[in-house]
Amino acid sequence: MESIISMNDMSKEEILNILELARKIDETPDDEKLKFLYGKIIATLFFEPSTRTKMSFESAAQRLGAQVLQLPPVEQSSLKKGESFRDTIKMVEAYSDLIVVRHPLDGAARLADETSKKAIINAGDGSNQHPSQTLLDLYTILEEKGSLENLEIAFVGDLKYGRTVHSLVKALTHFNPKIYFIAPQILQMPQYLLDELNKNNIKYEVLEDFRDCLDKIDVFYMTRIQKERFPDIEDYEQVKGIYVINKENILGKCKDDMIILHPLPRVDEISTDLDDTKHALYFKQARNGIPVRQAMMMTVLGKVKEFFLENLFY
Ligand code: CP
Repeated sequence: MESIISMNDMSKEEILNILELARKIDETPDDEKLKFLYGKIIATLFFEPSTRTKMSFESAAQRLGAQVLQLPPVEQSSLKKGESFRDTIKMVEAYSDLIVVRHPLDGAARLADETSKKAIINAGDGSNQHPSQTLLDLYTILEEKGSLENLEIAFVGDLKYGRTVHSLVKALTHFNPKIYFIAPQILQMPQYLLDELNKNNIKYEVLEDFRDCLDKIDVFYMTRIQKERFPDIEDYEQVKGIYVINKENILGKCKDDMIILHPLPRVDEISTDLDDTKHALYFKQARNGIPVRQAMMMTVLGKVKEFFLENLFY
């Protein structure tokens, strides 16, 4: 595997291999990890705001002994002088071994991959895909549920623009899920993704109220209504705050072992009063970004065989 651009490109086996590697890395003491990417340079190019994805890729790389090269803020880089995205990628390719890219436009990571001879990892492109988030979501579900197969999962909130939802739904097609899509009509799942589910005989329901499936689901995947993605702010005003979960509307009304995930950041859609309940997994989920992104970087840089050979001798 040379680049990771979209969950559409990943087989079930490739997904499970990364999750297994992430688990092994997670179990390895920190001081033994520093040699795994020693001498490598990881470039991070973020053309959109990020806390978790950027910092966890950079922390993950540094904990494997790699060095990190950041694109300066756009105002201080030659993008400000009119340099194109493609020329920027051509330059960074010469300075690094692997490029992690986030961009507001759908397809930007694919364009970067077509431009660069070095591997690209998509850290989120517009409303399209967010594969590293998907792999850490799957890792969290697997750790908590013991299996990814036959789960009932509700996606709630911004399903139209939510790249984490689009990516995860695509990956779940390998695991025979039952999916509930809960959103106001203007934020429902894009038809092309529902067509894909139909083609793969995946069971799903389209709903507007999460209470219609709350007692059935294993995973409640909440998302933020993303103000920044709305072309028309009046549409945003109509739906902001439409879903809010809290102790009162969740506890005692869901399965005892239901987990709540959220890619974060949250605004008001999950009340902080849920944070200390056994259902709240979103901070652990974000923490899982470290071993999962380490596994992704080691995979694209061809370091997996070395890792397993070394572990055989321990
Ligand atoms: N989940 C996620 O992508 O968070 P950031 O935007 O903070 O990277």
